[in-house]
Amino acid sequence: MTKYEQVQKELIASPKVWLITGVAGFIGSNLLEKLLLLNQKVVGLDNFLTGHQRNLDEVKSQVSDAQWLNFKFINGDIRNLNDCALAVEGVDYILHQAALGSVPRSIADPITTNATNITGFIHMLQAAKEANVKSFTYAASSSTYGDHPALPKLEDNIGSPLSPYAVTKYVNELYAGVYARTYGFKSIGLRYFNVFGKRQDPDGAYAAVIPKWTASLIIGNDVFINGDGETSRDFCFIENTVQINILAATAPDTAKDQVYNVAVGDRTTLNELYDAIQLALNENGLSVDSKPIYRDFRAGDVRHSQADIGKAKSILGYHPEFKIFDGISKAMPWYKAFLGK
Ligand SMILES: NC(=O)c1ccc[n+]([C@@H]2O[C@H](COP(=O)([O-])OP(=O)(O)OC[C@H]3O[C@@H](n4cnc5c(N)ncnc54)[C@H](O)[C@@H]3O)[C@@H](O)[C@H]2O)c1
Repeated sequence: MTKYEQVQKELIASPKVWLITGVAGFIGSNLLEKLLLLNQKVVGLDNFLTGHQRNLDEVKSQVSDAQWLNFKFINGDIRNLNDCALAVEGVDYILHQAALGSVPRSIADPITTNATNITGFIHMLQAAKEANVKSFTYAASSSTYGDHPALPKLEDNIGSPLSPYAVTKYVNELYAGVYARTYGFKSIGLRYFNVFGKRQDPDGAYAAVIPKWTASLIIGNDVFINGDGETSRDFCFIENTVQINILAATAPDTAKDQVYNVAVGDRTTLNELYDAIQLALNENGLSVDSKPIYRDFRAGDVRHSQADIGKAKSILGYHPEFKIFDGISKAMPWYKAFLGK
């Protein structure tokens, strides 16, 4: 039995109360679905800034009526300390996902990104500490590696941040460390590398590459590649990300006050990604045969990214079950349905 299977068995036998911030977003709603299916009680906090009611409705359709009754939603804002204090009441485990994602959004509006990702973060940390919550796991980011050239990325070797977003995610880690050292309140930071899967928003100027390209190919819009297409990423399917959140939340004290890379340990170029999405769409009965349009590199983007996931494997028992191409195949039917094809 894997560590993940063992933990799921224990949670079913002894359900816990979880708080997911950013529950109406992509990662948050996938965490919600998994935890409700494991018969956990879940409190969700969101202000719908980038999340959607439709994500919650979809989770409702995937779980039983009894499981849905285990979910309590708070329409609130992490920039408001009272909302955070209310949300943490009676909670065992926190999965803090709420933040403003996107490097370009942070370059366009650093002030709102800072307020959400730094002030909101310390509010959650403070509320969790005050309430003596058992564990606090938060969404960190591979953007913290900044301009450090080494590949694969090892947790201890980071460079200078390349965007306001990267600064905010690094500050989260600094505050997490300070709360451990100053108050003895230890948390776990999960440095996500590009996560993808169902319910990742394809709309808007700040959509991530996989949903954006998939939707564009399905509806027949042009696909733009920033740069020469040889930029690479370690794309991580959502189910791997859900796995590590559950492992981190339930990990022993010795695993805490740490950050962990969350990815697969592979590297895929944008050109390879484009071909893979096109292939998966064709396999799903949507005949697509188009060429991408190349344009300038985008400010703030790192050139290559690939994680060393050895630390997460050895300490948390993380074993990503899905490689990028498995994940893309699994996600395609959702995009097809979402776009009514
Ligand atoms: N998706 C990725 O590839 C990726 C990579 C690295 C890190 N992350 C981090 O993972 C987390 C989740 O990202 P996601 O991809 O699910 O994004 P998302 O935009 O789908 O979800 C974020 C959620 O947070 C909510 N939110 C934003 N500001 C809030 C506020 N002030 N109060 C309450 N709720 C608020 C949004 O409404 C949304 O539902 C974020 O912290 C993000 O920075 C994501």
